[in-house]
Amino acid sequence: MAELRTDATASASADSGAPLAMRGEQLVKRFGAVTALDGVSFTLGPGEILGILGDNGAGKSTLVKILTGFHQQTAGTLYVNGQEMLLRSVDHARSLGIECVYQDLALANSLSIYHNMFLNREIVRRGPFRLLDHGKMRERAAQCLDDIGVHVPSVDLPVERLSGGQRQAIAVARAVNSDARILLLDEPLAAMGAREAALIIDLVLRLKEKGGLSIIMIMHNYAQTLDIADRIMLMQRGRVTFEQHSAQTSVPELMDIVRREYRAMRANGTN
Ligand SMILES: Nc1ncnc2c1ncn2[C@@H]1O[C@H](COP(=O)(O)OP(=O)(O)OP(=O)(O)O)[C@@H](O)[C@H]1O
Ligand SMILES: [Mg+2]
Repeated sequence: MAELRTDATASASADSGAPLAMRGEQLVKRFGAVTALDGVSFTLGPGEILGILGDNGAGKSTLVKILTGFHQQTAGTLYVNGQEMLLRSVDHARSLGIECVYQDLALANSLSIYHNMFLNREIVRRGPFRLLDHGKMRERAAQCLDDIGVHVPSVDLPVERLSGGQRQAIAVARAVNSDARILLLDEPLAAMGAREAALIIDLVLRLKEKGGLSIIMIMHNYAQTLDIADRIMLMQRGRVTFEQHSAQTSVPELMDIVRREYRAMRANGTN
């Protein structure tokens, strides 16, 4: 088992007086006989970017799905802005300013780009019939994509006509376009080319500079994560096995921890 380093200095603190954006305490999630999360504790400071790394099946997406109200934890406690909270649904989480871009993207492929960007929060015209204001949604969607440097031929195109990377960019733009205070990104760089990945990284860093937003990003690339995140957390087999400020760790150290874990598993005959 890799050494667990969760000293106080590697956790987000509420020294600034502002409450932590999020905190999880001993979160457990079981799916029947499968224990996806086996007592995960974490903190997310105000304005902080937390990068989560880990193997396939480590429980990263499950954790994010609990934080976004999609799943409910089997045990453990979650705090949002310092208050204990059981997130009942995605809408409940959204009402608290928690937005997510899922790994298995939740875009409606047959609908247009602008429809997708306003899905479940459509702009309606004033008046008795609540008619959708397509013109305004088109205009705002185009403006938002332009602001963040995402180029598409037209916001009228159905999403199914876009590449995987472009779809991902639309999903991120949609989350950013909301009033999110906490943004959860599950592998936002998956399926991205170098240019699109750089665009998303740049976007996240600009959002951080603007302030007021705390971000959790699940990533696969160690070097990219250390570049973007203030702090990183490594998950292995449903547990947090390492947590550190990005400036105080390195790719070799992370690789070493993962390698040691594999060796221990092999020695125990668990893999
Ligand atoms: N809805 C579900 N029903 C049953 N088992 C599930 C469900 N969702 C996840 N699991 C299981 O929980 C474990 C953790 O899965 P999870 O998707 O959280 O991993 P992950 O760290 O996001 O992996 P990846 O890097 O491949 O995305 C896996 O063993 C997975 O099979
Ligand atoms: Mg996942």
